[in-house]
Amino acid sequence: MIIFFSGTGNSRFIAEKIAEQTGDKTVDAAYYIRRKKGAHFTDSGPYVFIAPVYVSAPPVPFLQFLRHSAFPAGCPAYFVMTCAGGMAAAPWYCRKLSEEKGFSYMGTVEIDMPQNYLLFFKMHPPSHNREKVKNACTSLDSISDSIHSLTPLPEPAVKKWEIAATRMVLAPYYKHFMSAKGFRATKDCIGCGKCAAACPMSNISMEMHKPSWGSKCIHCMACINLCPKEAIEYGRHTRGKLRYHGPDSLFR
Ligand SMILES: Cc1cc2nc3c(=O)[nH]c(=O)nc-3n(C[C@H](O)[C@H](O)[C@H](O)COP(=O)(O)O)c2cc1C
Ligand code: SF4
Ligand code: SF4
Repeated sequence: MIIFFSGTGNSRFIAEKIAEQTGDKTVDAAYYIRRKKGAHFTDSGPYVFIAPVYVSAPPVPFLQFLRHSAFPAGCPAYFVMTCAGGMAAAPWYCRKLSEEKGFSYMGTVEIDMPQNYLLFFKMHPPSHNREKVKNACTSLDSISDSIHSLTPLPEPAVKKWEIAATRMVLAPYYKHFMSAKGFRATKDCIGCGKCAAACPMSNISMEMHKPSWGSKCIHCMACINLCPKEAIEYGRHTRGKLRYHGPDSLFR
């Protein structure tokens, strides 16, 4: 069973590709996260958890959802992290979660995908992103084979300083930086509601045909990237920057 969390679609895309190869079913964790619920999973596994890297770690709401969910004792657990540079300390968090949940830990791999964090990073044109996604797809065969044959994934060593640095910045980053206060819809907004539908935290409500942002934002960047009119800005950080419309947009 493949359980994924995704903002702009990279992790969903990888989850669906692996599911095609392994014949597994996919579950979108956002369904439960939006309802603030855990789930009760009875399938014997293996379980494949797929999510983006946020600040060198798996997304906190995803980890919390897995913590609050029930799984069969000792089920094999694979972790696949999509990122735009490196998964850094993420394997440490995945291993720790596995110990807490009594999973049989099978390793964590990273898949390099297009950058989506346009507030702070350089965004790339579709041609560059298309190449990245194609390269990512070629690395999936061996991952799917490992899952299919219940073989552990080869995991890179995580440096101690990366773990220490991530543990130090993660909570303050969520508390002080991951705010929706900077978002606003511009005059180009057509009131389609796609930003609200894309938010995995249910943090956007439509008021008088315009989005209004709440206080549960985790900076997943789905709203601002997936708006079909590119009608969302975040303060001055995003003016004139390219948007990433998700992996499916690259192959239309
Ligand atoms: C809040 C935030 C933090 C991020 N932090 C990292 C990071 O620490 N390392 C990295 O390589 N990519 C980082 N990224 C890039 C994403 O991990 C990457 O684009 C991912 O594939 C997005 O997946 P999604 O489309 O499923 O949401 C970050 C993106 C966001 C929005
Ligand atoms: S997705 Fe864009 S155009 Fe549609 S309601 Fe949101 S801001 Fe407006
Ligand atoms: S409001 Fe925050 S959590 Fe919701 S889609 Fe936008 S960036 Fe993501």
